[in-house]
Amino acid sequence: MWSSSWIFVLAAAGSAVGLGNIWKFPYITGENGGGAFVLLYLGCVTLVGIPIMMAEVLIGREGRYSPINTVRALIQQHKSSSMWVIIGWMGMLAGFLILSYYAVIAGWALHYIVQLANGSFDGATAEFANDAFDSFLADPWRMVFWQTVFMVATIFIVARGVTKGLETAIRWFMPMLLILLVVLLGYGVTSGGFEQGFDFMFSFHWESVTAESVLIAMGQAFFTLSLGMGAIMAYGAYMPSNASITKTVVTIAVLDTVVAIAAGLAIFPIVFANGLEPSQGPGLMFVTIPLAFGQMPLGALFGVVFFTLVSFAAITSAISLTEPALAYLVEEYNAKRWRVAVSVGVICWVLGIGTVLSFNLWSETYVVGELTFCGFIDYVSQNIMLPLGGVLIALFAAYGLPNTVVGSQLGLREGPFALLWKVVIGFIAPVAVLIVLIAPIFDVVLEFLGLG
Ligand code: TRP
Repeated sequence: MWSSSWIFVLAAAGSAVGLGNIWKFPYITGENGGGAFVLLYLGCVTLVGIPIMMAEVLIGREGRYSPINTVRALIQQHKSSSMWVIIGWMGMLAGFLILSYYAVIAGWALHYIVQLANGSFDGATAEFANDAFDSFLADPWRMVFWQTVFMVATIFIVARGVTKGLETAIRWFMPMLLILLVVLLGYGVTSGGFEQGFDFMFSFHWESVTAESVLIAMGQAFFTLSLGMGAIMAYGAYMPSNASITKTVVTIAVLDTVVAIAAGLAIFPIVFANGLEPSQGPGLMFVTIPLAFGQMPLGALFGVVFFTLVSFAAITSAISLTEPALAYLVEEYNAKRWRVAVSVGVICWVLGIGTVLSFNLWSETYVVGELTFCGFIDYVSQNIMLPLGGVLIALFAAYGLPNTVVGSQLGLREGPFALLWKVVIGFIAPVAVLIVLIAPIFDVVLEFLGLG
């Protein structure tokens, strides 16, 4: 068990805050017009993210095992359908898939720490930054090297166990991460582009909202809060019984959102101060940011700080991606934790090689449609498995468990709040997520019929 509920908040926040906040949130905000998208995202976090996170935590704390065995135990105890076990299995698989490419992208951040430290970007032009990124992507050996460094670090921390490894890692990384963000924010305020960056993120241009941007906002809410695969459920199993689920979940969601917004507020002023493009896509952080830092006084130092921050955030997220599988394998086979950790690491590392090659040797090899190996794994895990897992988790909490169990976990007796909870978790959240899942299929059908 975690030594206190504060540690649970740190661990879950460490899981939630990652590449999703610092790399993805700013670039998709940039691509989707800024302010209006931010509002949609906040709506999704509140309506869908918070209730589903509460469901994950309460299921985990009720079962007190790994997600697979927790669901198994609760099914047996409450005589519900054995179909729910799929939540655990699919989650474990999704964790492997996500970690395999997450480690590759995190490796990019590690690579950029070194690049900025040795001054490669001092006085760099946009062309130079683009070429630097492209030539890095074209070099599978360098990418594999950094992917390996990230994976070894993750497995090392994970292998040392929950109390020793996770707690110390999170105790140090989370506060450092927040301090580094404050430093960067301070720099953004004095950089000259703050007003424009702020305006971009918070002025509402409704004309830029499309059905697709609503879906992207929903998907982002899922990914950024680590929902749908049992990561938060696995952490919930270690949560003290007397801590309030509602309070801690709201705290985590607020923290996660604050970090995402702060990352945006740190990045966009730099973008605008240097006349760069906010909508340039996934390269926003890896091309624009080193370029911007390269043009600033003390830029190398700030750049190293920035990419160190990203790497710390990524490692605490990666740890949580292994936890459902790890906890299950240790429970089920009574295996040594470090052995299981190394096995999980090796499997994800091998899968990750496919992602590395997707950016160079296999960049023209498509698994399905126009999806490369990496694109395919990313699509299946993020756009199908996580939302489906989220729907099942919500429905399991609403209909697979007796109201009394849920009520006592949440500290809700019969009354308006209990009813509100039931409506949100049993109807609003799953229906909203199902729309996310089904809408792309409609798009494909419409396109097929020539109507899209
Ligand atoms: N939330 C993390 C991020 O924003 C990524 C992550 C960690 C995750 N654990 C997860 C995503 C579990 C989905 C499911 O980068």
